[in-house]
Parts: sequence; C-alpha cells; structure tokens
Amino acid sequence: MARLAVATTALCAHALAPTPLRTRRTTVKMTATVAPPSLEVGAQNLDWPNIGFEYRPTRSFVHYRYRDGEWDGGALEPAGLDATVPVSIGATALHYGQSLFEGLKAFACKDGSVRLFRPTANAARMARGAARTLMEAPDEALFVEACARVVRENLDYVPPYGSGGALYVRPLLYGAGPRIGLQPSDAYDFLVLATPVGDYYKGGLGKPVKACVVEEYDRAAPRGVGSVKLAGNYAPDLKPNTEAKQSGYPIGLYLDAGSRTYVEEFSTSNFVGICGETGKYVTPQSDAILPSITNDSLMKLAERSGMTTERRPVAFDEIAAGKFSEVAACGTAVVLTPVGSIARGGDEFQLQHHTEPGPTCLDLYTRLTDIQRGDAPDEDGWTHVVVPPS
Ligand SMILES: Cc1ncc(COP(=O)(O)O)c(C=O)c1O
Repeated sequence: MARLAVATTALCAHALAPTPLRTRRTTVKMTATVAPPSLEVGAQNLDWPNIGFEYRPTRSFVHYRYRDGEWDGGALEPAGLDATVPVSIGATALHYGQSLFEGLKAFACKDGSVRLFRPTANAARMARGAARTLMEAPDEALFVEACARVVRENLDYVPPYGSGGALYVRPLLYGAGPRIGLQPSDAYDFLVLATPVGDYYKGGLGKPVKACVVEEYDRAAPRGVGSVKLAGNYAPDLKPNTEAKQSGYPIGLYLDAGSRTYVEEFSTSNFVGICGETGKYVTPQSDAILPSITNDSLMKLAERSGMTTERRPVAFDEIAAGKFSEVAACGTAVVLTPVGSIARGGDEFQLQHHTEPGPTCLDLYTRLTDIQRGDAPDEDGWTHVVVPPS
C-alpha cells in the first residue's frame, strides 16, 4: 500500500503542473517502456476471475491537447468514476459529434511482460476516422506511447496472467474547440483511459449466444460512416440493442441498409461464418462495416492453418440455407463469441453448433488468445511490449 501512495503523490504533482510540456508531433518517440518500480501487475487484488466487463476506475488517464497546430506532451490526470475534463460549451464534439474512440487490450504474460495487442492497427483506424471527419489525429508514435503510458501508470490494475482478464484501453479523440457554424474544430483533445476487464462471457468462449436480425433500424448507410469508429454510430444502436436484449437476444445483427439482403455486422463486433464442409472462413465485405482488428487477426490465423478465407458479400439466405456450421461475433471485447441461432421475422435459424462452441471457433479462439498472452510465438509482431519480461 505504501508503494502505491508514492505513485499517487507523483501523479498529483504531474496533474497539477500548470502547463504541460509542448512537444512537436514529430518529436514524440516510441519510448523504451519501463514500468515504474512501485507498481506490480495485479497488485490491486481485485476479484480478478469475477470482474466481468464493467467500467472500473483506475488511478489515472492520459490527456493530450492539440492547440495552435501541435500536440502537447500530455499529462496524467486522476481517473475515477467522477473524473471530468473541461469542455467548451461550443465544442464540436458536443454539437456535431466530432468524436472518435478506439478499444484495445493489454495482457499480462507468463514471462512477466505486459503487452498491448496491435496498437498500431488501432492508431491507423483512428487516423482513417479522423481523415473522414476532418479531425487532427495523433500520429502512430503518439497513439502507441499514450496507450503504453496509461498501462504503465496503472500496472497494478492489469489482471494477472491466468486470471482470464486484461486491461481494456480506451483512446478517445474529440473536437474541443467551439464552433457555431458547421466547421471542424481547430483544437482537439486525446484521452486514453483504462479499465480492467474479465471475459465478456464467463469462462472465455462461453455458450453460444442467441442473435436476432435488427429489423426496424439500420446501423450504417451506404457511403456513410459505418467503417469508422465515430461516437455517433453507437448512440443510434442503444435502442435496438436494448430492445433485442429485452426480447431475449443478447446480440443484434444488422443487414445492409440498401437492400436488407446482405449481412453486415453485429452491434459492436464483426460477423464470421465457418463452412464446416469446405473449411472456409467467411466474413462480409461492405464499406459500411467497421474493419475489426480481431477479425483481421483471426483471418490470418485461419489462413495459416490452411483454411480458405473469403471476404465477400454474405447473403442472409446463406444463413437460412444452413451454409454455415458455425457463426461467431468477433471483436476486442467479445474476442470470438459463438452464435447458436439467429432469429429473423418469426423464424429462428439454428446453427449446427448451438449448445457448445464449434471446433473451428474453439481452435481460432485458443490460438489468438495464446498469442495475446504470450503463450504462443508472435510470428506477425502483433504484440507491443509495454513492460519487458521479468
Ligand atoms: C461496430 C463494431 N464492429 C466491430 C468491432 C470489433 O473491432 P475490433 O476487433 O477492432 O475490436 C467493434 C469494436 O471495436 C465495433 O464497434
């Protein structure tokens, strides 16, 4: 406990510093990532196997500001359920939804290291979203360092190896400057917060969940912004999502808004279909889908094990015709969650593997999580070491 008190004092001193150091964007480097000696993985001693997927405050978050054409060096600020940031009443984030977020995880590994999974891919996705919405994005080095920094400063909140948990890292970029006419802001804030999470579904892969097609609403328009992680894509999903849950379906599946013929994605995860007969991994192709980093990783692992992968339009009729022996939702939070049945218009289409995860999902899930937790070689260089092996 005493050691944590030291860390907290240091944090407050930093947070109260009047003007954060100004650093040109180009000078922010991928730093050697050394953990403060006072913090140890898991030292918060939460009930790790049972923390679930809830927001739990940690000690600190990092806050960078883009002003007068450059990013500052960022400051650590106290995090907590009541933590706030000052926001202009005219901020474009509030009025026009100029706000993007990301989600990635840091894992404690067997060798004592702590690693972020594919942070450069999240940096690239945020940059694409920023280009679409005329926001100033942190460059890759700044993005990755900000994520590593929040992990290092909250190491004691990282669930220990073997607990099944991870530190979920949530970068957020928003227009902070006031505008009354519709124009992009000239000031941006970039925050990275973190929260320890357990398995989305208890026991990891869990039991297959029931999905239903969202009939009354669409998620993303053709030529719209479904492919970027814009905050405004998510508020419209709250009602359909809540209604689906109330009707007994934990996951809603969206179809294409143009023809309502093709599968797009689940509320917060991509759709994966496995054809048992041919051993194919199939995932929908559409400009309205968020390109999932988990899906990309699973596809590479599937290919490595000799499976054929297809990214192509997937007609809902293929599900109805029983073409897929396994269907799953994939994403950072849900990892790879098997779907047991999909309801549409009074029909319920049951997958062959509807009581237990299918063999392909099981295999892919294990191979992905083994890499994330350092139990299998990271052949693609996906993991970014934040704390070196002990
Ligand atoms: C709409 C949507 N699709 C898919 C995903 C999965 O993406 P990732 O695997 O990068 O977490 C997410 C989560 O970020 C999402 O919000």
